[in-house]
Amino acid sequence: QALYIGVDLGGTAIKTGLCSADGELIRIHEGPTQTELGTEAILNNIAAYVKELVPPGTPEWDRVQGVGIGIAGFLDIPNGIIEFSANLPFRNVPVKQLMEEKLGKPIKINNDANVAALGEAWGGAGKGVADCVCYTLGTGVGGGIIVNDRLIEGFSGMAGELGHMSVVPDLEAIQCGCGQMGCLETVSSATGIIRMAKDAVERGDRTSLSLVENIMAKEVFDAAKAGDEVASRIVSRAAFYLGKSMAAVAVIVNPRRFIIGGGVSKAGEFLFEQIREVFVKLTPERAHAGVDIVAAQLGNNAGVVGAAGLFLRA
Ligand code: BGC
Ligand code: NA
Ligand code: ZN
Repeated sequence: QALYIGVDLGGTAIKTGLCSADGELIRIHEGPTQTELGTEAILNNIAAYVKELVPPGTPEWDRVQGVGIGIAGFLDIPNGIIEFSANLPFRNVPVKQLMEEKLGKPIKINNDANVAALGEAWGGAGKGVADCVCYTLGTGVGGGIIVNDRLIEGFSGMAGELGHMSVVPDLEAIQCGCGQMGCLETVSSATGIIRMAKDAVERGDRTSLSLVENIMAKEVFDAAKAGDEVASRIVSRAAFYLGKSMAAVAVIVNPRRFIIGGGVSKAGEFLFEQIREVFVKLTPERAHAGVDIVAAQLGNNAGVVGAAGLFLRA
């Protein structure tokens, strides 16, 4: 019986998971990325963690048909090259080739949010839905678009880079890690939310938020829930631009469901309600009626399951 390994390569942790041919997660392993040690060390860590998950030489290892890797960044998917990543040090690195040399197994790479979308579509909040769009709200904002049960990659692998939709008007726009101005990621990622909170405190706005401790997006949501006006404004700004980007997506691919994952999505209904309100307001009836906006279900495992699925769904 064939087995598949999925890898979720993130800025802080590398998660690996062993999957059966029907997408069942058998076990997982997690270790630090050690971004500060550079590209080669990160790739060696992936190889080491994969081998800890399934030791070479065992009958299980022989059953592994391939290793799929989900990576945050702009990729040349067919050739397996990381062109650019805002949160990882890779620039034009032929990951597929290098990892095939290290592991001796076929490798496929894809974008981290794309594989999360595949995982959710396969066994999570998108199960049974042919057209769904996934947003991941974390350090960055990721996206994955599934149309007619197929992941859309686009001609240069940039389809679904929803975090880099330019949504903020010029006068308020700031520069994104990708180099462009006004990207969704600058306002709706955890990083963006924290930046807006810091700006407000530094400006001297009246708020319960403070910079004494290392502020986290969760604290901004908690303050907003408790009625802090500055925090509420930050949350509604993050929600507004998410809703606005969904309105654009809705008239392009007309999905049945939006799935929201990533750490920021833990804010739950408090955030979702605000997004829905904006989305409905900015989208023609026929493109918003019957469309739901729900939380991701696989949590932190969507990435590894979806990455393993790169082989299963091929
Ligand atoms: C990257 C995407 C990634 C997202 C979430 C963005 O900054 O451009 O490729 O999917 O962060 O990790
Ligand atoms: Na994507
Ligand atoms: Zn950008």
